[in-house]
Amino acid sequence: MNESLVPVPTGLLQISESSTRERGDQENALKFSLVLPTYNEAGNIAEIVKILSQLLDGYLPGQYELIVVDDNSPDQTWKLALELTPDYPQLRVMRRVDEKGLSTAVIRGWQVAQGEILGVIDADLQHPPEVLGQLLQEMEKGADLALASRHVEGGGVSEWSIIRRFLSRGAQMLGLLILPEVISRLSDPMSGYFMVRRSAIAGKSLSPVGYKILIEVAARGRIRWIAEAGYVFRERQAGESKVTWKQYIEYIQHLLRLRLSISARFIQFCLVGLSGVVVDMGFLYLLSDPSTLGLPLTRSKIIAAELAIINNFIWNDFWTFGDIARRQPGKRQRLKRLIKFNIICLVGLILNVLLLNVFFNVFNLNRYIANLLAIGLVTFFNFWFNLKLSWRVTEIK
Ligand code: GDD
Ligand code: MN
Repeated sequence: MNESLVPVPTGLLQISESSTRERGDQENALKFSLVLPTYNEAGNIAEIVKILSQLLDGYLPGQYELIVVDDNSPDQTWKLALELTPDYPQLRVMRRVDEKGLSTAVIRGWQVAQGEILGVIDADLQHPPEVLGQLLQEMEKGADLALASRHVEGGGVSEWSIIRRFLSRGAQMLGLLILPEVISRLSDPMSGYFMVRRSAIAGKSLSPVGYKILIEVAARGRIRWIAEAGYVFRERQAGESKVTWKQYIEYIQHLLRLRLSISARFIQFCLVGLSGVVVDMGFLYLLSDPSTLGLPLTRSKIIAAELAIINNFIWNDFWTFGDIARRQPGKRQRLKRLIKFNIICLVGLILNVLLLNVFFNVFNLNRYIANLLAIGLVTFFNFWFNLKLSWRVTEIK
C-alpha cells in the first residue's frame, strides 16, 4: 500500500521516453496518469479523488493513476490526500517543499507518472470530471493532445464576471499576437484541463512560467493532432482561486520566452542563409570572373546557387534543425530532406527573381532595395516551408 509520499524529482523538467509499460513492467502497466495540482484544496480533495476514482474505475479499471502534487499547502492538503491512499490504490501523493507553481507541479507529477497518456485537471471541481471520457476516446483514436475547451460547442463558463471574461479573452488575443503559430491551434489556450501522449513531449526540456502548462506543451511538444471537447467551467464550491495579477504577468513572460525560442531557430536559419550568400558570391567569382575561370555568367550562377543551397542544407540539417534531423536518422531520410530543401529553395529563387522584377519594374524601387526586399520575403518563405515540409517541425526547440 503506497501510504508514503512520492519522492519529488529534481533537475530538468523533462519527461522520460518510456513509461513502465514500455519497460515491460507489465505488473505496473498503466494507460493513463492524471495529475491534480493542489494548493490549499483541503475542502475539495476528498470529493475530487472519490469522483475521479469512481469514473476511471469504470473507464480504465486498474490502468490509471491519480497523482496529487501539493506545494506544501498551509491547509495540509497533501496530508489529507495521503490519508486517502489506503482507500484508493490508484492514488499517489507528492509534497513539494522547495518548488512552487501550478505548471511545474504538473510536470513533476508527469515525471513520476507510469502512464502512456498524461493528463491534468484542477482539484477544485471546476473542471467537470465526466469530460475525461471524451478526451480519453480522442486519445484512443490517435490524438496527440486532447483538451477540454470552454470555446467550442458545449463549452462555456458559468458565472464569470465581465472583467474575468474580458481578461481571459484579452490574454488569448495577446497570445495570438505574440505566438500565432501555437495559440491559433487551440480554441482555449488558457485551459488547464487536457491530456497529452507521453511520446509527444518525451525528452523535451519544458520550462513553463506560472499557470499555462498547455501553451508550453503545445509549443514544445511534437503535437500533430489536437482534439477538443467542450466543457462548462463551474463555480468553486470550496476554497478560492489562486489567480492574481502575478499570473497575468507570468503569462506574458511565458509568451515572450516561447517567442524567443521560436525566433532562435529563424535567426539560425538567417545566419545559415548569410553563409550561403558568401558561398554563392565566392563561387560566382571563382567560376565567372574574367580573372579566374571566366565561365559564362548564367552557368556559373546556377552552379554557385546550387553549391550555396547544399551549403545551407548541411548547416541547417546539422545546426538549425539538428534536434529534428537527429530524430530522422539515416542517409535515405537525409537525402529526402535535401531534395525537399532543394526544391523549396529553387522555388524561392524563382520567387526571388519575380519579386525583384515586380519591385523594380512595377513599383520603380531602387534595384538593390528591391533585391533586399525580395531576399527578405523569400527567406520567410524558405524558412516556413522548410520548417513544415523538409524537417516537418511541429515543435519549437
Ligand atoms: N501544486 C500547485 N502549486 N497547485 C496549484 C498552485 C501552485 O502554486 N496554484 C494553484 N494550484 C492548483 C489549485 O489548487 C487548483 O487545483 C488548480 O491549480 C487551479 O488553480 P485555481 O487557482 O483554482 O485556478 P482558476 O480556477 O482560477 O483557473 C483555472 O482555470 C482556468 C480556466 O481553465 C486554471 O486551470 C487556469 O489555468 C485556467 O486558465
Ligand atoms: Mn479553480
